[in-house]
Amino acid sequence: AAAADQVVAIRAGRLVDVVAGKVLQDQTILVSGERITAVGPTANTTVPAGARMIDLSRETVLPGLIDAHVHLTGDPNLHGYRSLGVSDIRAAMYGAYAAKRTLDAGFTSVRNVGASGFGDVALRDAINDGELPGPRMRVAGYAIGIQGGHCDNNLLPHDFHFTENGVADGPWAARAKVREMAKFGADTIKICASGGVLSKGDEAGAQQLTLEEMKAIVEEAHKLGRRVAAHAHGASSIRDAILAGVDSVEHASLIDDEGIRLARDKGTYLVMDIYNDDFILQEGAKAGMLPESLEKERLVGQLQRDNFRKAFKGGDKMAFGTDAGVYPHGDNARQFFYMVKYGMTPMQAIQAATINGADLLGWKDRVGSLTPGKYADVVAVSGDPLADPAELTRVNFVMKGGAVIRSAAPK
Ligand code: ARG
Repeated sequence: AAAADQVVAIRAGRLVDVVAGKVLQDQTILVSGERITAVGPTANTTVPAGARMIDLSRETVLPGLIDAHVHLTGDPNLHGYRSLGVSDIRAAMYGAYAAKRTLDAGFTSVRNVGASGFGDVALRDAINDGELPGPRMRVAGYAIGIQGGHCDNNLLPHDFHFTENGVADGPWAARAKVREMAKFGADTIKICASGGVLSKGDEAGAQQLTLEEMKAIVEEAHKLGRRVAAHAHGASSIRDAILAGVDSVEHASLIDDEGIRLARDKGTYLVMDIYNDDFILQEGAKAGMLPESLEKERLVGQLQRDNFRKAFKGGDKMAFGTDAGVYPHGDNARQFFYMVKYGMTPMQAIQAATINGADLLGWKDRVGSLTPGKYADVVAVSGDPLADPAELTRVNFVMKGGAVIRSAAPK
């Protein structure tokens, strides 16, 4: 048989069943080509003759992790004015490096929510064509937002006449931007509903896109079969984004009780990057972040963590997303610690990064759990991530689509 049809049997000492929310002992996963074909107790599993064995009998095995908010083309050492020296092509080259680091850390799927020059489209396609190692990618192209807002670039004075390509003012201009993103390969739409921390000259909590603009964007995107992710820190921007029908609210730092209720009632996912604050406050100045950004981070960082707890308690759906690229790629799993510190059980945090992420990406049929029919995206750790979620920062085995990417276990 061709290598692609080789049957692989993975013996898992412990297996995290994210659908049932349980840990199962001594399971065997059968993989044929790219897909999982069977999962069950080792004692009841017949391993076909000639199958290749992978012994993870001393490990805890999980589905490949999913980060729903990354910027693979973003270099965390080049913030603020340093970013101006980076061409779109150079950023895409960096993205190839970041994609490998992300995959090696156990993140087998990501949603890239904003890149210049359609570098994310190129990266996705190169990975899918087998030219580069990296996670499965959903990509947005340019993030869409108002002139002078978080998704514009406000670093240069008027003399330079620079406007970011994602800028759109008014409902029809915004609709046209959605069409443009779709035309050039975006399978997801990212918008900036409010100001941000790392943008110059705006307030994180202040609304930017209007309800009218967001309604136009969501209608157009959904018509074209694309989901919409809305960057929104401030309470009114979060409420209007949800009312407009976005599929996820990113950051959600200053969400209020009404926003929490609306998100729950409409089933809108929240993707709250609650590790980010550590890197920004500890390393941001060295990495070139503007003093005003550090000031803004001090205003929203802790509130975002407190509101993560409130929103989760309030019944909001949560998907794991970290804003990698602001901080170094590959450190994504550091966020698990905070998700547990602010109210989730370790199992719930793992579910946010697997089954929920798959649901938000529209990929529930292909990734997010160790289920027959899905891609064999599998990771393992030596310790017990249900006792200590920080174990997930020490992934030592990664398989993507049946191919072993990394392995500490004997082959
Ligand atoms: N990209 C986001 C922004 O500039 C990062 C926010 C990070 N801060 C945080 N507390 N999550 O707004």
